[in-house]
Amino acid sequence: MSADIEPFQAIAISRLAHQLKAQGRSIIHMEFGQPSTGAPRAAIVAAHRVLDTDGLGYWESPALKARLARHYRDAYGLDIDPERFILTCGASPALVLALSASFSPGDRVALARPGYVAYRNTLRALHMTPVEIARGAQDRFQLSAAALAALDPPPAGVIIASPANPTGTIIPPDGLAAIAEVCAARGITIVSDEIYHGLSYVGPTRSMLEFAPNALVINSFSKYFSMVGWRLGWLLAPAERLRRARALVGNLFLTAPSLSQHAALAALDSREELEGHVAVYARNRALMLEALPRLRLDAIAPPDGAFYIYADIRHLTDDSLAFCERLLRDTGVATAPGVDFDPVDGRRFIRMSFAVSTEQVVEAIERMVPWFEAQAATGRPVNR
Ligand SMILES: Cc1ncc(COP(=O)(O)O)c(C=O)c1O
Repeated sequence: MSADIEPFQAIAISRLAHQLKAQGRSIIHMEFGQPSTGAPRAAIVAAHRVLDTDGLGYWESPALKARLARHYRDAYGLDIDPERFILTCGASPALVLALSASFSPGDRVALARPGYVAYRNTLRALHMTPVEIARGAQDRFQLSAAALAALDPPPAGVIIASPANPTGTIIPPDGLAAIAEVCAARGITIVSDEIYHGLSYVGPTRSMLEFAPNALVINSFSKYFSMVGWRLGWLLAPAERLRRARALVGNLFLTAPSLSQHAALAALDSREELEGHVAVYARNRALMLEALPRLRLDAIAPPDGAFYIYADIRHLTDDSLAFCERLLRDTGVATAPGVDFDPVDGRRFIRMSFAVSTEQVVEAIERMVPWFEAQAATGRPVNR
């Protein structure tokens, strides 16, 4: 693994945020995309019960895979064989498996820029070649069938993310269908990251599998299910890739945590509690969108899902890392620099996560409005 992998800069911001907190400062954590709520109550009850009664060995829960198959029937109208689910320690290893089971070193894999930092770096770690397609607010930062059709030669694969990180934008059903069609015609394998499914403000999220039955889908209990630290996710692979993916998982990762698998089964039946979280995010999103003109951040694509605002700050800086650091030191609001998501244009963007409480969103806006006004008034860029 000699590939050149870049660090996740938001970690440096988070480290500074924790240092400032230890010095007594009041900090609002909007730098990471993680729910501030814990696991659903029923999941915690199940975990307590299992701790007292189960040896917690290597295990892949047949009941959880059957329940996930039911989830796909209920959410997407898809009939999936439970044996097609591979349980993993979150979506992160599922991504490694999906890429390793589908592509070879040297293969070109397309993705949108900006995009989740690990796509680019995992591809590089596996000695595959990321083909980044620059997208902006005008195309809602999303890939399209036309953009994939224009790639010459066609890439071996594409990573689709809808809702996306860092923008929260969703590809509508006709867009997914058109992408599926182009990929089928050009022999492009689709890896669809559906980790933000369930977190939508524009109606139900549709799975790529509805349009491309041979797509590889990755997902996780980290976001909608609010179970980040339980490290549980899944890969849904087509029959022809399953053998390779299973061989890889057995060697690289063995099994996902048994305790989390028991808890996740209960989480899948905790819809009312989880929908309560989505209602909070919807309120937070509305407050953020309302506040953006006061922050003079108007060049954004409003997020359809997930819990992020990806804002263009080019009128204030071309060094988003320095900007995030200054914003944090001056106001206590921690955000993520755009360079994590886009190595080219990300110097002029920041990502703010609103997966915090509504009170914290209100407080963050109160702190940021005068600070943004003051920075604009100086006429000098907020650089290092
Ligand atoms: C788009 C996307 N995919 C995958 C992941 C990995 O999540 P996990 O490994 O916690 O399931 C994240 C985490 O933030 C993400 O934003």
